[in-house]
Amino acid sequence: MTKNKQIYKCGICGNVVEILHEGSDTLVCCKKPMRLLQEQNDEHGLEKHVPIVKQNGQTVIVTVGSTTHPMEDSHYIEWVELIVDGEILRKHFTPTDKAEVKFLITRPSLEIRARAYCNVHGLWRS
Ligand SMILES: [Fe+2]
Repeated sequence: MTKNKQIYKCGICGNVVEILHEGSDTLVCCKKPMRLLQEQNDEHGLEKHVPIVKQNGQTVIVTVGSTTHPMEDSHYIEWVELIVDGEILRKHFTPTDKAEVKFLITRPSLEIRARAYCNVHGLWRS
C-alpha cells in the first residue's frame, strides 16, 4: 500500500518516484520491489542535510543544512520540496547549483515544511 507523497527508490537503476495517487500494490522497478525512503531528521557527522525553512510573508527560502552540502556530480542535493498545506512546490538542482531556493506562496498557510533529497544520503525533512 502506498501513501501520497511517499518517495520510493529503485536499488538497481536508481529511479526515484513520488506517489501522486495511493495504490494497494507494491511498487516494482527492475523486477524488484522499490524501497520506501524514510524522511530523516536526525543528523550525524559532518555533512548536513536537514532543510531549513525561513519565511518572511509570502517569501519562503529553503536552504539545506547548517553547513554547505557538496554539489558535485557524484554527490549533490537533487531537489528540494516545499509542502504548503499539503501542496508541493519543488525545485530541482544540478551539481553546479547552490542548494538554496526561494518560493513565493500565494496565501497565509497553516503548515509549511520542506524535504530535501541527496543522491547519496537520501530523503531529509525540516
Ligand atoms: Fe549528502
